[in-house]
Amino acid sequence: MAWITKNSAGTKIERRATPYLDEPTKARLRADILPRYETRLGALLPTLHAVQHQHGWLPPQALLEIAEFLQITPAEVYDTASFYEEYWLKPKGEHLIAVCRSIACEFCGQPQITEAIKQRLGIDVGETTPDGKWTLIEVECLGSCGSAPAMLVDETLHEWLTPAEALKKLDQAPAAHHGHH
Ligand code: FES
Repeated sequence: MAWITKNSAGTKIERRATPYLDEPTKARLRADILPRYETRLGALLPTLHAVQHQHGWLPPQALLEIAEFLQITPAEVYDTASFYEEYWLKPKGEHLIAVCRSIACEFCGQPQITEAIKQRLGIDVGETTPDGKWTLIEVECLGSCGSAPAMLVDETLHEWLTPAEALKKLDQAPAAHHGHH
């Protein structure tokens, strides 16, 4: 399901000759990580982390390479990677919008904010716009319950939001870099 992004841009599984799990990374994992875990499955989380740290997300090809490296099945890699929210199985957009969905924000109108952003960008929560500029997610409490509702746009926290103000924050975000995808 999440192997392929389901947007109208027709994204397909990316294949490239250069491995995502490169030799220097493998060498480092063999030296530092593998000896610390009793099983190859145990080493999976730090391995996923290392590859994502380098590439920003975990493409299907990377999951296959990790399975091969750890000698576990691709299904085991996929199940684990999809279970944890910190692992990205889809490319992230240039800007990440993270709307708090926890209780204080929800009570103060967060659903309308998420809805306004979805309408503006034409995507659902968890998706990225076809131009690669925006990714929308919902997250747990951002620690700003006293000034709810709150959202992060990249590293910037915005508080006391209304739907209109949330959309204004998107308009004010820096312009896209060229060549990003
Ligand atoms: S509930 Fe949203 S910031 Fe705490």
